[in-house]
Amino acid sequence: MVNDLNLIPGPTPRFLLGNALDFVGTSSHIKLYEYNREYGDIMRFWLFNQANILINDPTLIEQVLVSDRDLYYKNAPRKAAKPVMGDSLFLSNDKDWEFKRNNHPFSVAQLDKYFEQILPIIRETTKNYLEQLQPSTTPKPVEFFSELVKLSFQIFGLTILGSVTNSGYFDAFSMMMEEMDKRGGQQFLPYPLSLNPKFWLQRQQWNNFIEDRIHQSQKNFKEKGVDLLSSIVQDTALSTAQLRDELSTTFTAGTRNVAEAVAAVLFLCSKDSEAMQKLKSEITLFLAEHNNEIYQEDISLLRYLDLVVKEALRLYPAVPLFIREVLPGKVAILRNYKIPEKTQIFISSWALHHNPKYWENPDAFMPERFAGSPSPFHYFPFGAGPRQCIGMAFTIFCTKVMLMTILSQYSLELEPDTSFDTKYFSGTIMPRQGFKIQLKKNQ
Ligand code: HEM
Repeated sequence: MVNDLNLIPGPTPRFLLGNALDFVGTSSHIKLYEYNREYGDIMRFWLFNQANILINDPTLIEQVLVSDRDLYYKNAPRKAAKPVMGDSLFLSNDKDWEFKRNNHPFSVAQLDKYFEQILPIIRETTKNYLEQLQPSTTPKPVEFFSELVKLSFQIFGLTILGSVTNSGYFDAFSMMMEEMDKRGGQQFLPYPLSLNPKFWLQRQQWNNFIEDRIHQSQKNFKEKGVDLLSSIVQDTALSTAQLRDELSTTFTAGTRNVAEAVAAVLFLCSKDSEAMQKLKSEITLFLAEHNNEIYQEDISLLRYLDLVVKEALRLYPAVPLFIREVLPGKVAILRNYKIPEKTQIFISSWALHHNPKYWENPDAFMPERFAGSPSPFHYFPFGAGPRQCIGMAFTIFCTKVMLMTILSQYSLELEPDTSFDTKYFSGTIMPRQGFKIQLKKNQ
């Protein structure tokens, strides 16, 4: 088939390896950013015999995610993630995707009511977790990112499944994330089935736990809990296995991302004393005026909190890249280039969010830049188009409530050597050296 791959700018491929060596020792999102700087709006690279195109232009991104979306499907993430995520929405295509999207618990639940119910749980869980971590007014050094991951996992357990999640479940979850990372989270290479029997055992225990929760919810549907599972269990069109995979995927697709979003805001504001002061004052004043009682509709009234969360997700989009593939038998046209079937298309929010063509002073933390609304294809931490993140509203809500709770009770100071240099792990970013702070409870 005639194609224009060789006409598209990109690095010279090596025999057999293609450009795979470019990714050794450099995180994928950083490499894509460097490619963008060097080769512009559309570029080509090879991973062994796999052709890949990286697009860095809002119009092209719109084309792939919306106008021409029927030419593409999700393939690469399936290889890496299916043994961990199961057969869930995140990895599905076509009619199967449509069914799962329309029947996903977040599509079926009445979100306003659900958020109202889980707000006190997020607040209480955050408060109790921090009280145990740092009960004193004397500053204590902590690696806060890993603590936020554990906290977020507890919150997900209570708000999604209506269950306390003990450390055994956290270990099983952590092992699944490690496995997903090894399978392709790093360099998108196919990875053979795990030979580690512990992974299969942990995965089984995890699945049993979720199925058990589903059965209990079905049995006790009259005593409706406040969690997502109880709110939809009677109305769902999904089978138990489908529901299990969707609920499980909320953990694998969401827990670390929420922790990353909270950590990014705390890091950026800790480096900018004026921003921290402004954010804390807004939160403190709001809680004082509302007698420390907050309702879900109040959250959007905190204007500065909204701006800092948006700006943190611009600078540190938790999912910095995602992939489509040209369907077998199809040819896509991007900027007049003919792109043959099975070519992978990379879209990087990280590269676009840091591109000086679209953002003034792109590396600076300037929350006020979000006073207006950017185009969805310039700013897309949650993806864009019909496959935009289904957990977006939950994530933003949860992140804001966690931040309000933390900042109304604690002060943070960065350890002198703390940076937020990120690495790519299992489809998401995390601070490479951890997020080291001094945590101090307010008087
Ligand atoms: C900071 C937090 C998060 C970020 C940055 C994020 C980002 C994304 C992105 C970029 C996509 C699009 C992927 C693509 O188009 O290929 C996506 C899809 C998805 N996300 Fe999230 N996500 C976050 C949190 C969550 C949470 C908390 C959940 C579940 C509770 C979740 C569940 C999903 C699912 C199921 C999809 C697939 C939707 C579909 O294909 O129809 N995400 N997310």
